[in-house]
Amino acid sequence: MNLRYYPVNFRHYVKYKIGLTPAYTQTSESERKCLQKYATGKKTLVEIGVFEGVNTRQFRSVMNAEGTIIAVDPYPRSFFNLLGFAWIRRIAHVEVGKVNRGNVIWVENLGKLAPKEEKVMPHLPVDFLFIDGDHSYEGIKGDWEAWSDLIESGGIVALHDSFNGKQPRIGSEIFTQEVILKDRRFTFIESVDTLTVIQRN
Ligand SMILES: C[S@@+](CC[C@H](N)C(=O)[O-])C[C@H]1O[C@@H](n2cnc3c(N)ncnc32)[C@H](O)[C@@H]1O
Repeated sequence: MNLRYYPVNFRHYVKYKIGLTPAYTQTSESERKCLQKYATGKKTLVEIGVFEGVNTRQFRSVMNAEGTIIAVDPYPRSFFNLLGFAWIRRIAHVEVGKVNRGNVIWVENLGKLAPKEEKVMPHLPVDFLFIDGDHSYEGIKGDWEAWSDLIESGGIVALHDSFNGKQPRIGSEIFTQEVILKDRRFTFIESVDTLTVIQRN
């Protein structure tokens, strides 16, 4: 994510609060429609990399009414929470709070460490995982190794920035193409823009 294109500062926060600008997301409209289709009716959902909560809110609005969404983002902050991702975090909480359905568990940690959190463990395994956090090769590798065995049979994994056809490829594209899509525990379902959807066998 290039923050140059997403100036997430106090000014953006104020404009968001007074309704002059919506919450930011890097997903396209077609990707959001696709994500919504697979999140519908799911009971335990995880999003790694919540950012401003646009998709988290959408997942909450279509999941099982008794469902739980585990929202994972470390939201690195600095200078008494006035710089960095503190504003993004505030916007995410407002966005996700706009829907009152099921439960939300906020995990301010790295995706790869989230399954070891005490508040997460009772909810495992899960039936929907959206990976959109650290797009480096090592970052997505960590998420994949921590979560891939925690997906129920028939459960869905959606991977953002997993393909875009341009060179040079980023780590999440290389890891998806060379490791995840060859994993025999999963079957490819479809891809939309940069999103890849697979299902646990
Ligand atoms: C591309 S944005 C996510 C966009 C969001 N999923 C959406 O649909 O609008 C990436 C987010 O991942 C978070 N992040 C970075 N590294 C992470 C990691 N290792 N685990 C979880 N989240 C991470 C960042 O703080 C940032 O908010």
